[in-house]
Amino acid sequence: MEERLKIRALRKSYDHPNGGERCLVLDDVSLTVGKGELISLVGPSGCGKSTLLRIIAGFETAEVGVVEFCAKPVSGPSPERGVVFQSPVLFPWLNVRDNITYGLKLRRLSDETIEHLCQRYMSLTGLSDKGDFYPAQLSGGMQQRVALARVLVLEPKMLLLDEPFASLDAPTRMKMQQLLLDVSIKIGLTSLMVTHDIEEALLLSDRVYVLSGSPACVIRELTVPFARPRHLDLVGDSDFASMKREILHALI
Ligand SMILES: Nc1ncnc2c1ncn2[C@@H]1O[C@H](COP(=O)(O)OP(=O)(O)O)[C@@H](O)[C@H]1O
Ligand SMILES: [Mg+2]
Repeated sequence: MEERLKIRALRKSYDHPNGGERCLVLDDVSLTVGKGELISLVGPSGCGKSTLLRIIAGFETAEVGVVEFCAKPVSGPSPERGVVFQSPVLFPWLNVRDNITYGLKLRRLSDETIEHLCQRYMSLTGLSDKGDFYPAQLSGGMQQRVALARVLVLEPKMLLLDEPFASLDAPTRMKMQQLLLDVSIKIGLTSLMVTHDIEEALLLSDRVYVLSGSPACVIRELTVPFARPRHLDLVGDSDFASMKREILHALI
């Protein structure tokens, strides 16, 4: 399988806010993401998952190690790596359509191309009838759909998701999980998702990396065997439950 992301022996520490010893956050982290895979990172709160994602996104740098995207070192942010955060951070003064097309307009594409892409990704994310709404007029789940559409419309080579559904209520979260499953298949997405929700990781992913508490390193890598297309009902499966137990035991 073609490799999209390669992380080798990554190490990252931060200065202590009180000027004390530097805090080691990531220690010898290695992982890969192949083209078309959906990979999850699970680990205890505060272990360094967001830090790792920010390094891959190019917002921060590591001290030691390799971060390669499409066989080239990551040297900064790029639209090739689209990021979706836990909170949608939309432009409140723009309606849904203009939020989604904002990045496309910076690319100086023709109006027809922009319209075509906007329609396509609004439809894929279930927003076709919401184009004229402003973020404040939408529920949290709908806002997160816009955040997803806004990144997808730029057709990134990889999606980086940092606990994207963590602030949603359970039914909305499940709808969004199914949406991500469906969209991933339809457009052949490659994704790396951080989550603290083990069920979510198993439901969505091809492989799950389990990180230890700080400093974080990979303590487990599991291949999730369930066939695609997947459905939320998988959560009731007995193999699913035993994999969930295995990850829980690795974490505690
Ligand atoms: N800019 C920063 N300066 C100092 N420490 C930081 C900074 N960003 C994160 N940290 C620390 O790094 C650790 C990991 O944080 P984070 O990556 O947000 O964890 P997670 O996403 O797994 O909950 C935490 O102890 C946090 O306090
Ligand atoms: Mg985090």
